[in-house]
Amino acid sequence: MKTNFNRISPAKGRLGVLIPGMGAVTSTLIAGVELVKKKLARPFGSITQMQRIRLGKRYENRNPLIKNFMPLADLRDLVFGGWDIFEDSMHVAALKAGVLSPEQILPVKEELRSIHPMPAVFDKKFVKNLKPKQIKRLNNKMAQAEALIEDIQNFKMRHNLSRLVMVWCGSTEIFISPSAIHENLQDFEKGLKENSALISPSMIYAYAAMKSGVPFANGAPNLSIDAPVFVHLAEEKRIPIAGKDFKTGQTLMKTILAPGLKSRMLGLSGWYSTNILGNRDGEVLDDPKSFRTKEKSKMSVLDTILDPDLYPELYSKYHHKVRIDYYPPRGDAKEGWDNIDIFGWLKMPMQIKINFLCRDSILAAPVMLDIILFLDLAQRAGLKGIQEWMSFFFKSPMHRPDLKPENDLFLQHIKLKNTLRILAGEEVLDHSGLDYYEGPKASPKVAPSPKPYKKRAKTCKK
Ligand SMILES: NC(=O)c1ccc[n+]([C@@H]2O[C@H](COP(=O)([O-])OP(=O)(O)OC[C@H]3O[C@@H](n4cnc5c(N)ncnc54)[C@H](O)[C@@H]3O)[C@@H](O)[C@H]2O)c1
Repeated sequence: MKTNFNRISPAKGRLGVLIPGMGAVTSTLIAGVELVKKKLARPFGSITQMQRIRLGKRYENRNPLIKNFMPLADLRDLVFGGWDIFEDSMHVAALKAGVLSPEQILPVKEELRSIHPMPAVFDKKFVKNLKPKQIKRLNNKMAQAEALIEDIQNFKMRHNLSRLVMVWCGSTEIFISPSAIHENLQDFEKGLKENSALISPSMIYAYAAMKSGVPFANGAPNLSIDAPVFVHLAEEKRIPIAGKDFKTGQTLMKTILAPGLKSRMLGLSGWYSTNILGNRDGEVLDDPKSFRTKEKSKMSVLDTILDPDLYPELYSKYHHKVRIDYYPPRGDAKEGWDNIDIFGWLKMPMQIKINFLCRDSILAAPVMLDIILFLDLAQRAGLKGIQEWMSFFFKSPMHRPDLKPENDLFLQHIKLKNTLRILAGEEVLDHSGLDYYEGPKASPKVAPSPKPYKKRAKTCKK
């Protein structure tokens, strides 16, 4: 498929970003974007803002920043809004979350104070450990969806927006499996009208978004859009969707390390992961039913990376355990410990220990920014349905049911960059490099390498 920028409509006008769930991650994201816009901070961790993409042959030295190469929305054109069960402005939410210090967010205090969440669609059956302060007083789920559709329209008009995206950043809902009601639109809409207990708030937001033609991504592990009804609806309405569960912390480490072990044919006999976490997310996950949702999402990555069916001797018998303990003194500054029991030559055992003192929302905020910008790009490029090339950002990537999800971070990264190249009509890179050694020596198409590369080349010749 040869595509090019002509097929991508330009990022003209303002992009509305609607977020159900305006807590720690959302307030950290908005504070960060506002600080970056004022040139008071740098967007470290963001692929769209900081990463370069190699184009063509190595000697061409074409490595533009992704944000300059792809027609992405400019940060100055983002307008944030959303819903929460608490009325806190984004300034109060950021102070309560305690991820960034009051001094750090002082320069953007006014911007954060101007953003207030709208009353939420909430159902305590799906998130047990929270007491709501502002919710829509509507008892019927279809009526709740219609109220959200109205909110979306009003937000678009009020802020004079040309486009919208929605990202679920609300608390993790209890675990539910897809069932008949999540199969097709007719049954799902019947379920909405009849208040089916199998329809969660995150699904009602997703339905409202898609009915309004708004792309949707799920940053949490709950089922939400990962069901046939939403995949069909997205295809029918020509909307891109992506999910689920932002890939941060311990799972990020797993998807970095496991592909390395596998590539060297080192076996695994056990992987024990435990975390302490003291933010509101940790409090919600203290409910076993919400934790079950998170556990499912965290557990799935190793098997799909290690392929025990192909390598039974190496990976069919490992013991995998994941724990999260709510420990309030730690706030958002999570600490994770991994003990990994591996074996090598002649089955000799070895161990790896990881102690990751990370900051949950600091890792999640740039991921969320990239998802927002790529989802909008996908919409303008005419991509619809599941956006597998965005798996890079998710712990439990949505995928076609007959395909294995790709969890290897490095393959996900290649897939993401090659998709951008395809969209731009650039050559897809397979990194084999074989063509450099076949036929006559290719002559550089553009200026010779900049200094650091030249130096390295000389060293090699010696
Ligand atoms: N921080 C990370 O590294 C990370 C990584 C992966 C996934 N996540 C997921 O992202 C989500 C947000 O994380 P967080 O740390 O910001 O949590 P948080 O508790 O600080 O924020 C979640 C917000 O969602 C609100 N909420 C709950 N139900 C809602 C509803 N029905 N409608 C609107 N708002 C609702 C809560 O009131 C809360 O303010 C969680 O589900 C979490 O599991 C976070």
